[in-house]
Amino acid sequence: MITVNPDGKIMVRRCLVTLRPFRLFVLGIGFFSLCFLMTSLGGQFSARRPGDSPFTIRTEVMGGPESRGVLRKMSDLLELMVKRMDMLARLENSSELHRAAGEGRFALDRLPAGTGLMERIQAIAQNVSDIAVKVDQILRHSLLLHSKVSEGRRDQCEAPSDPKFPDCSGKVEWMRARWTSDPCYAFFGVDGTECSFLIYLSEVEWFCPPLPWRNQTATRRAPKPLPKVQAVFRSNLSHLLELMGSGKESLIFMKKRTKRFTAQWVLAAQRLAQKLGGVQRDQKQILVHIGFLTEESGDVFSPRVLKGGPLGEMVQWADILAALYVLGHGLRITVSLKELQSNLGVPPGRGNCPLTMPLPFDLIYTDYHGLQQMKQHMGLSFRKYRCRIRVIDTFGTEPAYNHEEYATLHGYRTNWGYWNLNPKQFMTMFPHTPDNSFMGFVSEELNETEKQLIKDGKASNMAVVYGKEASIWKGKEKFLSILNKYMEIHGTVYYESQRPPEVPAFVKNHGLLPQPEFQQLLRKAKLFIGFGFPYEGPAPLEAIANGCVFLQSRFSPPHSSLNHEFFRGKPTSREERWPRWVGVFSQHPYAENFIGKPHVWTVDYNNSEEFEAAIQAIMTTQVDPYLPYEYTCEGMLERIHAYIQHQDFCVDPAPAPPGARAPQSPFILAPNATHLEWARNTSLAPGAWPPVHSLRAWLAATGRACTDACLDHGLICEPSFFPFLNSQDAFQKLQVPCDGIESEMNHLYPAFAQPGQECFLQKEPLLFSCAGSSTKYRRLCPCRDFRKGQVALCQDCL
Ligand SMILES: *[C@@H]1O[C@H](CO)[C@@H](O)[C@H](O)[C@H]1NC(C)=O
Ligand SMILES: *[C@@H]1O[C@H](CO)[C@@H](O)[C@H](O)[C@H]1NC(C)=O
Ligand SMILES: *[C@@H]1O[C@H](CO)[C@@H](O)[C@H](O)[C@H]1NC(C)=O
Ligand SMILES: *[C@@H]1O[C@H](CO)[C@@H](O)[C@H](O)[C@H]1NC(C)=O
Ligand SMILES: *[C@@H]1O[C@H](CO)[C@@H](O)[C@H](O)[C@H]1NC(C)=O
Ligand SMILES: *[C@@H]1O[C@H](CO)[C@@H](O)[C@H](O)[C@H]1NC(C)=O
Ligand SMILES: *[C@@H]1O[C@H](CO)[C@@H](O)[C@H](O)[C@H]1NC(C)=O
Ligand SMILES: *[C@@H]1O[C@H](CO)[C@@H](O)[C@H](O)[C@H]1NC(C)=O
Repeated sequence: MITVNPDGKIMVRRCLVTLRPFRLFVLGIGFFSLCFLMTSLGGQFSARRPGDSPFTIRTEVMGGPESRGVLRKMSDLLELMVKRMDMLARLENSSELHRAAGEGRFALDRLPAGTGLMERIQAIAQNVSDIAVKVDQILRHSLLLHSKVSEGRRDQCEAPSDPKFPDCSGKVEWMRARWTSDPCYAFFGVDGTECSFLIYLSEVEWFCPPLPWRNQTATRRAPKPLPKVQAVFRSNLSHLLELMGSGKESLIFMKKRTKRFTAQWVLAAQRLAQKLGGVQRDQKQILVHIGFLTEESGDVFSPRVLKGGPLGEMVQWADILAALYVLGHGLRITVSLKELQSNLGVPPGRGNCPLTMPLPFDLIYTDYHGLQQMKQHMGLSFRKYRCRIRVIDTFGTEPAYNHEEYATLHGYRTNWGYWNLNPKQFMTMFPHTPDNSFMGFVSEELNETEKQLIKDGKASNMAVVYGKEASIWKGKEKFLSILNKYMEIHGTVYYESQRPPEVPAFVKNHGLLPQPEFQQLLRKAKLFIGFGFPYEGPAPLEAIANGCVFLQSRFSPPHSSLNHEFFRGKPTSREERWPRWVGVFSQHPYAENFIGKPHVWTVDYNNSEEFEAAIQAIMTTQVDPYLPYEYTCEGMLERIHAYIQHQDFCVDPAPAPPGARAPQSPFILAPNATHLEWARNTSLAPGAWPPVHSLRAWLAATGRACTDACLDHGLICEPSFFPFLNSQDAFQKLQVPCDGIESEMNHLYPAFAQPGQECFLQKEPLLFSCAGSSTKYRRLCPCRDFRKGQVALCQDCL
């Protein structure tokens, strides 16, 4: 009876998506039940052109003339509402509204001009609601008829009590009460009958056993494995620029960047191809959904591109897109919810049903906004496919903040955390923590000729201040006047017409500069100076790559979510229990700890003498332009190549669940009895990545995090090795005197507690964490080596 043709499906989706403010408003009075009633009566929404009302109903309705008339009336009313909403939208056209609407409630109090209209619209809504009740009655009547027709089948449609499907009967009960709550159920053929519930629950979702009398071959949608194709490096990026689309300032900015780096990418691809030789690289189908650029997330960035807003995320996304494209993968890029839905195959409705087709992508790169959108629109499919998602997450997410139950129990909940992903699925801007994957971005690499030119052209008394927003300069007069004694100070602060008052008159302010001009400025300057904000942007790397010295302030006490507004709600603790190089002890921890002197000076700005001495010293220091390998195009390509070919979070991890030990231990104690190594002759875990033979395991000192403990040995903590270590045997081999052994959920485990001589194993694989320490424990830490300038990869990782 229910025949929603593919055309109708698309139309419903359009009506839900294009009229966002409308949809949010009408939510309260049951717009979806209307949509649903109309589809289930066989009506179709059809909008031929975007400008047309989407509510013209082609009537093919079972209830006959009566319901047809009612529906036509509804359509007229809805059309009226849409027009009114349009007027309203024009009146209120402000970002405040966007924000409020994004949170799902209408900020009436902020919109005095709109209230009259709102009341009128509410009146219409009431009328529509009344009509909906009428239609509901008609619908019930027609269902009654229908159930008589299918009576013969009823006995075949009882919820089976199959122990393999324990949730089945509960789900059927839920459907009985709530199947009208989302039109998507009707889309999949649910019509209120028991049979339709069971068919849906067994064939679309997977809570019930397949019904024996259904045509199994037709329903079993065996996901076709995508054919394996060899990826080929690409050297012409013009198609990528097309794929990126246009229209937004942010996209224009990103495309400019990609264009500017084209030659570097092409050269990097050639070098990497040579390095890899003929190694097999599978081509992946990849969806890139940039959530923070969607209207639905408020897109606060695009309007600020030309006004000194933060560009770090756009820089990174532009580079990720370029890297994926140059590596030769199949790319789809979306920057709106609508495109996302159609690429994923989201059925019409409110997003509670699974996708209409197997996911056509091997990998999805997105951000927290996009993750939220996918969760809201993929129903059960989100769980099924989340292992394919990679989340670009500037500041990273520690395991303790990622695991929902644990985060809730122990006060690690944040606005961003607890997604229960593998922590390695979060990809950061800087290598903060080995618990996440380091994604990074690129900076321009110079050849020897260019480097020499820059060194010759340096003005030793020229300083450029880091930061495009005037607020950064506030209260910095003291430092600026000291600096002004020695150097000519240049700023690149955005301004409308006059010099911003925060910027002193002796500063030469260039206004916001296009990237190439900014680079020219850096090439002449001796010093690039930061005043504490922004945190960890790309600019200091660029300055250092152009031969500047970067001077920044030490934060004491260090900034973290506990004491600093900016980090509040971000899923990292970054307190003192973080190793020195990941805590926010300075404006740019990576620059301080991975680059350091002579390129980076980190001093206490509150100590005027220290500050002044640093400036004097810098003026007489010769530095070469420097760029860490991991921030070159080649470094980034190499890293992403390795991730794509080797990281697979869809296979079950945990090769050795606690307790169940393989009879033969894969470890041996190193000759001098300080740590464990992988036995050369063992054949366990052949496919593991990073390769297990790079594993070295230590028992850390009391109160030491694994990140630190590994660094002490010139190694890096590798969380994917934790499962191998999570056993009594590992403690035994290390000759740790365990009196007892227990398995619990704790992000510090496996660990040894000295007081009770007790050994603890990790019960929850998602909680394995390099970060974190406690004075109660000596942690058992898995470490590995790393490539020089490429901390994300071990020696044999390629
Ligand atoms: C909001 O106003 C701007 C300029 O004032 C205009 O370009 C834009 O189209 C308006 N948006 C709507 C939805 O009316
Ligand atoms: C709502 O319905 C009532 C009676 O059916 C009618 O008088 C009123 O004008 C309607 N309101 C609107 C805004 O259409
Ligand atoms: C089951 O469906 C398949 C594919 O649609 C069709 O080829 C086959 O004939 C059907 N079998 C029966 C028994 O209806
Ligand atoms: C890149 O491809 C486009 C068409 O796809 C072509 O017009 C252009 O000339 C190519 N550029 C180079 C450098 O080959
Ligand atoms: C260095 O780069 C410049 C500009 O990109 C180029 O003109 C020059 O040929 C390069 N020199 C060498 C030795 O590669
Ligand atoms: C300088 O000291 C003040 C208070 O004495 C403190 O609030 C500020 O954070 C310090 N600045 C730096 C860069 O340490
Ligand atoms: C233990 O042996 C390793 C090599 O197997 C070596 O690097 C390390 O320095 C040694 N440690 C001590 C304390 O001798
Ligand atoms: C591997 O080597 C260790 C000692 O080096 C030995 O005890 C063990 O039996 C060997 N295992 C196999 C499978 O050869």
